[in-house]
Amino acid sequence: MEAFSFLLFCFSLLMAVSIARDTINTLESISDGEILVSADETFALGFFSPGTSKNRYVGIWYNKDPTKAIVWVANREKPLTDSSGVLKVNNIGILVLLDSNNSLIWSSNTTRSARNPVAKLLNSGNFVVQDDSNSGTEDFVWQSFDYPGDTILPGQKLGRNLATGLNRRTTSWKSSDDPSPGSFSYQFDIDGYPQLVLREGTTKRFRFGSWNGIQFSGAPQLKNESVFRFSMISNEEEVYIVYWSVDSSVHQRLQIAMDGFSQRRSWSGGNTGWTTVSHIPVDDCDYYGKCGAYASCDTNHFPMCGCLDGFVQNTIDSSSGCVRRTSLSCNNSDGFVKFSGLKLPDTKGTWFNTSMSFEDCRILCLKNCSCTAYAALDVSKGPNSNGCLLWFGKLMDMKVMTASEDIYVKMAGKDVEAIVRKRLPKFKKKKQKITTAIIWVLSSGILILCLTIIIYRWEMRKKGKIKEERESDDCQHDEEDLELPLFDINTVTSATNNFSADNLLGRGGFGPVYKGILEDGQEIAVKRLSKNSSQGFEEFKNEVMHVSKLQHRNLVRLLGCCIQAGERLLIYEFMSNKSLDFFIFDCEKGKLLDWPKRFCIINGIARGLLYLHQDSRHRIVHRDLKAGNVLLDDELNPKISDFGTARSFVGNESEANTRHIVGTYGYLSPEYIVGGLYSTKSDVYSFGVLILEIVSGKRNKGFIDIDDYFNLLADAWTLLAEDKCLEIVDASIRDSINLTEVIRTIHVGLLCVQRNPEDRPSMSYVLMMLSSEWELPQPKKPGFFIERDVVGDHSTLSNNELTATQVHPR
Ligand SMILES: *[C@@H]1O[C@H](CO)[C@@H](O)[C@H](O)[C@H]1NC(C)=O
Ligand SMILES: *[C@@H]1O[C@H](CO)[C@@H](O)[C@H](O)[C@H]1NC(C)=O
Ligand SMILES: *[C@@H]1O[C@H](CO)[C@@H](O)[C@H](O)[C@H]1NC(C)=O
Ligand SMILES: *[C@@H]1O[C@H](CO)[C@@H](O)[C@H](O)[C@H]1NC(C)=O
Ligand SMILES: *[C@@H]1O[C@H](CO)[C@@H](O)[C@H](O)[C@H]1NC(C)=O
Ligand SMILES: *[C@@H]1O[C@H](CO)[C@@H](O)[C@H](O)[C@H]1NC(C)=O
Repeated sequence: MEAFSFLLFCFSLLMAVSIARDTINTLESISDGEILVSADETFALGFFSPGTSKNRYVGIWYNKDPTKAIVWVANREKPLTDSSGVLKVNNIGILVLLDSNNSLIWSSNTTRSARNPVAKLLNSGNFVVQDDSNSGTEDFVWQSFDYPGDTILPGQKLGRNLATGLNRRTTSWKSSDDPSPGSFSYQFDIDGYPQLVLREGTTKRFRFGSWNGIQFSGAPQLKNESVFRFSMISNEEEVYIVYWSVDSSVHQRLQIAMDGFSQRRSWSGGNTGWTTVSHIPVDDCDYYGKCGAYASCDTNHFPMCGCLDGFVQNTIDSSSGCVRRTSLSCNNSDGFVKFSGLKLPDTKGTWFNTSMSFEDCRILCLKNCSCTAYAALDVSKGPNSNGCLLWFGKLMDMKVMTASEDIYVKMAGKDVEAIVRKRLPKFKKKKQKITTAIIWVLSSGILILCLTIIIYRWEMRKKGKIKEERESDDCQHDEEDLELPLFDINTVTSATNNFSADNLLGRGGFGPVYKGILEDGQEIAVKRLSKNSSQGFEEFKNEVMHVSKLQHRNLVRLLGCCIQAGERLLIYEFMSNKSLDFFIFDCEKGKLLDWPKRFCIINGIARGLLYLHQDSRHRIVHRDLKAGNVLLDDELNPKISDFGTARSFVGNESEANTRHIVGTYGYLSPEYIVGGLYSTKSDVYSFGVLILEIVSGKRNKGFIDIDDYFNLLADAWTLLAEDKCLEIVDASIRDSINLTEVIRTIHVGLLCVQRNPEDRPSMSYVLMMLSSEWELPQPKKPGFFIERDVVGDHSTLSNNELTATQVHPR
């Protein structure tokens, strides 16, 4: 009896030992019914039968999980039919699974051998073979983590070793009774920029999308969370994704289910069971190529599929997606259109370089005829090194996503222009087209009549033939739909504190400007025409005529006028932030306008000018565009002001000649200074100067290099040609610049200041160039590149026959 209980004791001791062990050596083995348990008791390895099957498999499961979720199976494809199996590690380090007839069911295969091999189940759930002397290191001869089944555990790599060719892919089970590989699999495709792809058989079903340094463009929901962290590694040796749990008490696994859904499941121990935290694919648009080529899929839209701008439905085969509106010409006339918020297309067959700059990337794509699109590779880096990803064929499998990076799609120049035009903010039209035509015919007659009367009366008044008190009617008669309120002189005097010196804001083109506060609290700026200046009087008229007709958010708004008691006053909305020159030419204040703000200002001025040149009823040349005439409102939106020198053109007239030069040195175009010729292109010139001043923070005339008498324009031109134009960027905005935007802006500025007016772009073109991505022409030398002396030297001008009385010195 005693002997028996001693035996029993020995047996249970043996069992306890065998349960506790996590390692076997070449002399030991595991038979059906025995298990290995990892040191921390999380995982167990042994024989099991899945579902209702009677077959026996060797696998790994969670030791304490009541559901015994299997995370790895050794002999997936070749089950044991009875419980006679034995797992051993042989003396060169190969794991072998044998049946009762000693025939091989499964084996691990390794290229290396170990001198004193042991097999061990680690706490991570990784079953490894290593040399006993390497115990505790990561030097494994073989590891189960390299041969995933349908589950990826924390710390296990899903991906490839590019050096050895090892492809760690996951495959679903065939059924819950059969762990052999089913039809769904995940793997990193490396034909092109690596991407994680779900396949059914050999057919692509879903792409995670390319990794952009921050996220997968097709699965932004996969991100670092409270307990879940992951990394994506992609370098010359390896491409893989790996994740881990922040809280070791929360078990997590990624599993690809038999229906292809991949799910992240977690279990916090105990009997709570596993919960699905997230799964992929999420919606119909996730299914690969749902909409065909050059189309994007949007589940919030009906129909879900739509062609990208510049593409149209393929009429021959509508299921294949979209085709180009205009085919590429493959010369410099092609350009790029930017698309944001799209899952980047299939990267199969793409080319990439991890260190290239964004600009070089664009040029490379433009040069290669078969390149259809480009994008940055790693948006977490700056544009100088964010890498380059080029597509060559059709663009497949794009989905509208909220958080995604930009892609630049190559298109024919014609299509680029049409899209840019379409995307430009629309200007509000006063009236509808059909009625406008009728009204126009009727009203133009009345207008001409009115203007004749007005001009006649102005002339008469100058000769003193019309009495003062009747002048106050003038504002009303100015134009047919002009509703310019008249201000009472008493209102204005009390608002400006009787034009007190404290209220003086500055001096405009023809008289002082005062700040005022109306009784209702509204702030106004009052321009007061000098009484004795006949020159100013003409300009006053001019300004009333022009400004009262103009309505645009980038033009300063005239609130009313007052012609009474010998005063001629213009009442404007008050701009709290003064003028642009106040900021950009001042080191300290310049910091208040960072690059994004400056870029907005440049675009705002351009839109205001475009309105003057094209969209207002009369084409107007401002003639004195300069930093001092661009006012800034509370939100630093630019408003062009001071129309005292503006001149409108009628009909097809596009150019005029004057002997009376107005404007400001530094902003005047050569043809205007030298020949007195002005046109909208003279404003474009001034705008170009303004751009360069805004970017550089330096006045055009004041910018002289001591060693070299270059002016701002010449310097910018030279630096652009040498690819060094960042050198002229204002130091106070260097931190905030967007490199491509700045270079582009300088480039556009230089196109505007080209010497020949015909070479300068129109304002509509300027706006397009500022907002698009296509290749810009090289600017020719700016005006005054050679004749820079003309600008700096007064005498050159006064020798000229032209009078230059109104040229404001700077
Ligand atoms: C072992 O071999 C015998 C005779 O060849 C066969 O009948 C038996 O089914 C085999 N056992 C296993 C487990 O394959
Ligand atoms: C292991 O064996 C399988 C099938 O026998 C083979 O396809 C694979 O290349 C082998 N792996 C190594 C690392 O030898
Ligand atoms: C997640 O966080 C870890 C640090 O905990 C970091 O190394 C990793 O890059 C992050 N992953 C992503 C995708 O941001
Ligand atoms: C580019 O090709 C288009 C059409 O093929 C042609 O109309 C255009 O003139 C070409 N442009 C240049 C600069 O060669
Ligand atoms: C990637 O771009 C960098 C910088 O332009 C260049 O030096 C390098 O040779 C390129 N690598 C490849 C493989 O083209
Ligand atoms: C365009 O790029 C493709 C893919 O890299 C390359 O095979 C082809 O030679 C390139 N063509 C030109 C003209 O550079």
